[in-house]
Amino acid sequence: MSSINIKSGGPLKGEIRVPGDKSISHRAVMLGSLADGVSRVSGFLTGEDSVNTARAFAKMGVEIDGMGGTELTIKGVGLDGLKAPAGDLDLGNSGTSMRLLAGLLSGQGFGCTLTGDEYLCKRPMARVVKPLTAMGAKVTGNGERSMPPLKIEPVIKGTLNGISYQSPIASAQVKSAVLLAGLYAKGRTSVTEPMKSRDHTERMLRHMGVDVVEDGLTVTVTGGGRLKASDFMVPGDISSAAFFMVAAAITPGSDLLIRDVGINPTRTGIIDILRLMNAAITIEEPRTDGPEPVADIRVEYSGLRGIEIGGELFLRAIDEFPIVCIAAAAAEGETVIRDAAELRVKESDRIAAMASELAKIGVPVKEFPDGMSIEGGMAFRAARVDSHGDHRVAMSMTVAGLVAEDGDEDGMVVEDTECIGTSFPGFEGMLESVRG
Ligand code: S3P
Repeated sequence: MSSINIKSGGPLKGEIRVPGDKSISHRAVMLGSLADGVSRVSGFLTGEDSVNTARAFAKMGVEIDGMGGTELTIKGVGLDGLKAPAGDLDLGNSGTSMRLLAGLLSGQGFGCTLTGDEYLCKRPMARVVKPLTAMGAKVTGNGERSMPPLKIEPVIKGTLNGISYQSPIASAQVKSAVLLAGLYAKGRTSVTEPMKSRDHTERMLRHMGVDVVEDGLTVTVTGGGRLKASDFMVPGDISSAAFFMVAAAITPGSDLLIRDVGINPTRTGIIDILRLMNAAITIEEPRTDGPEPVADIRVEYSGLRGIEIGGELFLRAIDEFPIVCIAAAAAEGETVIRDAAELRVKESDRIAAMASELAKIGVPVKEFPDGMSIEGGMAFRAARVDSHGDHRVAMSMTVAGLVAEDGDEDGMVVEDTECIGTSFPGFEGMLESVRG
């Protein structure tokens, strides 16, 4: 089992470029595969999650050149050109792959089984099974919560029904699964959510010529269209940049420039949260590259203070909870995070995982069913901590090590860190490269 040993030390300085956005990389492969013609993707994330999505499409007969690298050429087979895979589709740790593929594959004339690793097999799929079943799809998991593996049975092509789905949760995975099934359905399919979740699917579909109508919190597609092949530049993942943003904000003397980061407004909650906490963040050269806005982000050290986080602000930083916990623990005063119950069913139970690991380094926390309060400003004590098999917990605890006092340990030891490879290959080396 691999681990990271990190000692506290000098400021973070220089320039970095983080790997490609995970959400956008998944969608580039999925939609490129369903397009008519050849799509080129650059800046693709070579993490295991997005590579597993690419492998799944290769297994369904899509020719993808450049597998394992950042530049892919995808020979799209059209909406009706996928072939039945030989064997199950193993999606590893990736919830996004499983939920979006459940939608996309539920209107096919062939059946298949979607499976994953021990962590993914503990994540509920009922949230997508329910609306897909209402569309006439035959998707089943285990038990009431439809746990993986998910079995998808064939349907007669073009027979799914368009529905108007009122989603009880704001979830891009649910929204995207239903919209992708909607491409194969009769008439219109719409999804209404309680708050606007990330909108990469909508932006990319539009970029490929699909008529996507947005009316407030409702998004609608009409079945029977076609997807035009396109070239995609995948921007750097703001969720990966977030570890470096917080690292620079809490390490005295830091001045770090993170180039080419996606700044889609449904994802920039981390910038707003850190600014509310008094971080010094400058957005440089904002520009639009294809369907997504991009910019360079400069972060300089500044003393942080505690704040309250909930509602839409939380949703726009949903994957950043573990690293926001570290910012909060380094800030003066209390930070309270609410409306975060979804975190109980992420790659780990992130509320429980962060509460237990913060306690190990001497940070006083209180856990709520839907969040946590963190008493900041106390020195962190280096300790042996655990990732809970969760990439974002592993990277967050590594960042805490940058400012931890030694105590009995010779630096912070973060155990079980292979999981970092799902979203951020090269994380540890990049961190070392910008340390004084
Ligand atoms: C994602 C949506 C979010 C996010 C996940 C990626 C996506 O999940 O947490 O990491 O790419 O659609 P939910 O839709 O379950 O909130």
